[in-house]
Parts: sequence; C-alpha cells; structure tokens
Amino acid sequence: MRNNITYDKPFINGSGTIAVIDDCFKDSPSLLPDCPRIFIHASEENKTFDTVEEVIGKLIELEADRNTFLVGMGGGITTDITGFVASIYKRGLNFGLIPTTLLAQVDAAIGGKNGVNFDRFKNMAGTFCEAEWVYINPEFLESLPKRELLCGAAEMLKTFLIRDAKAYGEAVEYFSGPIRSIKELTPLIRRAVEIKCDIVSKDPLDRNIRHLLNLGHTFAHAIEKYDSCFLHGEAVAAGIIMAAQESVRLGLMEQDILEKIMSDFKAVGLPVETSLEMDLLQKAILQDKKREGGKITLVLPIKIGEAVLWDSSVTV
Ligand SMILES: NC(=O)c1ccc[n+]([C@@H]2O[C@H](COP(=O)([O-])OP(=O)(O)OC[C@H]3O[C@@H](n4cnc5c(N)ncnc54)[C@H](O)[C@@H]3O)[C@@H](O)[C@H]2O)c1
Repeated sequence: MRNNITYDKPFINGSGTIAVIDDCFKDSPSLLPDCPRIFIHASEENKTFDTVEEVIGKLIELEADRNTFLVGMGGGITTDITGFVASIYKRGLNFGLIPTTLLAQVDAAIGGKNGVNFDRFKNMAGTFCEAEWVYINPEFLESLPKRELLCGAAEMLKTFLIRDAKAYGEAVEYFSGPIRSIKELTPLIRRAVEIKCDIVSKDPLDRNIRHLLNLGHTFAHAIEKYDSCFLHGEAVAAGIIMAAQESVRLGLMEQDILEKIMSDFKAVGLPVETSLEMDLLQKAILQDKKREGGKITLVLPIKIGEAVLWDSSVTV
C-alpha cells in the first residue's frame, strides 16, 4: 500500500476533475473547486449497481475520459461507490477521497477496498484499487450526528481492540465521558489510521492478516441483512460482542474481559446485542463472502489489544 494519507488539503485541479459527492453536501458548494458534481444519496439501499450505473451514465454525459480525476467526498458509502466506479470506468481512473464521517476517516476510505451490495448481501461486488490520496480532516466531523459519530467509534474501537489497548482505553474515555471537542479526537483518529495502514501494507489484497480488521463483521453483515434499523457501525459493535462471546465459549478469552468490553460499549452508547434469531444469522453467515471451503474464518478477540483468526466450522 502506498502512503496516500494526507492531513493537508490536497491541490485539486478544477479542470479535469469530476466530484462524486454525498448529497448531504448539496448546499455546501465551496468545499471543492469549480468542477462538475455528481450527487448521490448515501444509504445501504442505494449502495448498488444501479447507483454505479447512474454515476457512470453521468460520467459519459460529462465526457469523462481516462485523464479525468474523480474525487469522492462523503461517508463510507460514497467513498466505496466512488472507488468502485473509478476502478471500472474506462478500465480505471485516478481518484482521491475526502471522507467526511468518522467511520470513513478511520476505516472505509483507507486501504483500497471498495464495492457495492447485492441482493442485500454486503459488499458482494468490488475491487481493490488505491486512491491517489485520502484527505483526512476531522473538522468535517463537526456536523456529524451523534449516532453516526458513534458508528465511527465502533470501527475505531475495533481497530484498537485488535492492536492497541492504551488507545482503546482512551477512546472509551473520549466517547463515554462528557462531550469533548473533535480536536481532542484527532490523535485517536491518527492512531486508528496508522494501525489500519500498517495492517493493510502487510496484506493489501486481504489474504491473511488483514482479515483481523473484519473483527465483528461476519456477524455484522448478517445483522445488517435482516435488520435495516442497524447502521453499519452499530452492527459492527453488536458483532464484536458476538465474536467476544464466541471467544469466551471457545476458552480463548476470559469472561471478565468480555464483561469489560460489553460495559465499555454500553457506556459509549453502542448496541451490544440484537434481537435476531441465531439460526437466521447463521444462514446469512453461511452465505457471507468470507466463507471459504466450508469454513468461516472468524476474528476473535483474546484480550484488549489482541485478536486472532479462527477457522470455524460454523458453530456460531
Ligand atoms: N471499503 C472499506 O474498507 C470499508 C470499511 C468499513 C466500512 N465500509 C463501508 O462504509 C459504509 C458506512 O460508511 P458511513 O458510516 O460513513 O456511512 P454513510 O456514507 O452512509 O454516511 C453516514 C451518514 O452521514 C451523512 N454524512 C456524511 N458526512 C457527513 C458530515 N460531515 N456531516 C453530517 N452528515 C454526514 C451521510 O449523508 C449519511 O447519511 C458501509 O457501507 C460499509 O460497508 C467500507
């Protein structure tokens, strides 16, 4: 993985650039230089081939060619769609990303994975394609609703649960205490980005160690399939708890660590359970894209700051 993260505003040449923007920024035209804009509505229902086709149709109307530079600005849905379109339009355009949610800044926009949902299965089609740059500016988070901020907190806590117990404790303190400024969150954003970049650089095509970043996601994708009330980050939080419970069941983690993680997540305001039936989740998990050779590789936390990959024969 190339080092494509920047905390300084990149130069964007208005001519030759087309921006794909989350429509929540429709009334904020000054954020980008004067260039054609394609607005998309960010929702999981819209993260589909239909939207990809719409964007491609507009690129054709705008006569975009292989020299066109795409800029994707918005949350993870917008950055995933922009990366996917950029990787396939005329066999590939260069692109940059401006993630504007916490979840996209610490996770979705980093590492070159993109994609869309299919038949309500998450991210069933996509590519690996690195952006030229990813511009991270925590100031965008000032306007983010609390619920969306907490979704980002879930992915951030996931990253720290895998790799950094100290940062995990600081993040729990930040999100569970009295409201603090976004500025105070910046060092934790940078730390989460640093960990993700380090893991991705060791396994850019997601063949082995990068699977660790899927902590909670096997369960989360199943939850999202059947319960549209859960936002992605919320499903990840509940999924992490399910993974931790499985870890305890297998004797890999102490019960008191599970209880601490649950109480931390509750204090932060994240869901720790779902009302869905286990056999329904199991059915969705079986169809999850991580299923390989009749096995599912689960990511299981074994203590705060460390997780392992565990080949399960679907006992979940
Ligand atoms: N590619 C990857 O590696 C990867 C990793 C993690 C998650 N994801 C994907 O990311 C998606 C979730 O991303 P998300 O949580 O950012 O969702 P999102 O893109 O839907 O954004 C969440 C909401 O916040 C709004 N929003 C965006 N920026 C805002 C701002 N600055 N102020 C106010 N509102 C703003 C959006 O309009 C939307 O309503 C999922 O589809 C998930 O699969 C991808």
